[in-house]
Amino acid sequence: MMTNTLTIRQPDDWHVHVRDGDMLRSVINYTAAQFGRAIIMPNLATPITSVKLAEAYRTRILSALDPAHDFTPLMTCYLTDSTDPKEVEMGYEQGVFTACKLYPAGATTNSDSGVTHIDNITVVLETMQSIGMPLLIHGEVTDSDIDIFDREAVFIERTMFKLIAQFPDLKIVFEHITTKDAVDFVRASGPKIAATITPHHLVYNRSAIFAGGINPHLYCLPIAKREVHRLALRKAAISGSPKFFMGTDSAPHTVENKQSACGCAGVFNAPFAIESYAQTFDQENALDTLEGFASLHGPEFYGLKPNSRKILLERKDISVPDNYDIMDTQIIPFHAGETLKWHFAGLV
Ligand code: DOR
Ligand code: ZN
Repeated sequence: MMTNTLTIRQPDDWHVHVRDGDMLRSVINYTAAQFGRAIIMPNLATPITSVKLAEAYRTRILSALDPAHDFTPLMTCYLTDSTDPKEVEMGYEQGVFTACKLYPAGATTNSDSGVTHIDNITVVLETMQSIGMPLLIHGEVTDSDIDIFDREAVFIERTMFKLIAQFPDLKIVFEHITTKDAVDFVRASGPKIAATITPHHLVYNRSAIFAGGINPHLYCLPIAKREVHRLALRKAAISGSPKFFMGTDSAPHTVENKQSACGCAGVFNAPFAIESYAQTFDQENALDTLEGFASLHGPEFYGLKPNSRKILLERKDISVPDNYDIMDTQIIPFHAGETLKWHFAGLV
């Protein structure tokens, strides 16, 4: 029998960029409308590297929220070569930091202050391991001589294996995985290793970025890979394994910054995130595993309770706008101009 409505626990977004200032005010309520909580990425122009900066950023997020939404931003600490382990521990103990984010220096947007070599943060990682604080990893090498489509797989070989051997009890989320290699690595590793999967990496492969011309709105990092990898991600997402959960990596940039001679990386998927995931699970005949992926595996990994509220999804055609008018310009969303087959009807 065809499922036409679905009631599931309210999901959380375990990886999102909500920016700051006018952009923050323009985008945050799309996330807050659907998700109970979200892991807020710390890669602002001035990265969130201290408890003080995180508290101030959290306050700005909370003031930008529509009071209709009951939404909790979970803050992260941006690791640098000089991160003080005491700062990390203090932030975690005080409930300000939920996790730390590791950007290899130069890997992506605002990652210049990231970590230049993993050995520079050994003491921080020992501290995190001992207090049970998760490490969130942007898993790509940054060497320009490594092909962009190989950077995730090479990161696994060069860094991940070493990291899990050195810190066997450290909780690690391999963020926004894009390869079969990453799926296999996460599956083969112990229960401390999990991964987030974005809606867009489940939907298109690298050919789509170049279909009929260059499509800058499909460009993000890590970049989408071959079809075999997309299929492996879909299999992992719907598998019911507690190691895989939602993380949209919604990353808004203005249309000028995307459609440029040097366009920014990032897909803005926040307005229709849960609809996109629901459509993918439906295509795979796997709506029964959507709740685990969306709403249960993430909290379980982070040691939090699932949300008590529920949301209703309905099988119904919905049109995604071509663009959003934001800050005197526009942002082009994921699925722009398309019709999706599932509708988010709100909290129930
Ligand atoms: O595509 C991306 N955009 N990947 C990232 O890792 C960062 C993000 C952003 O902040 O724009
Ligand atoms: Zn991201």
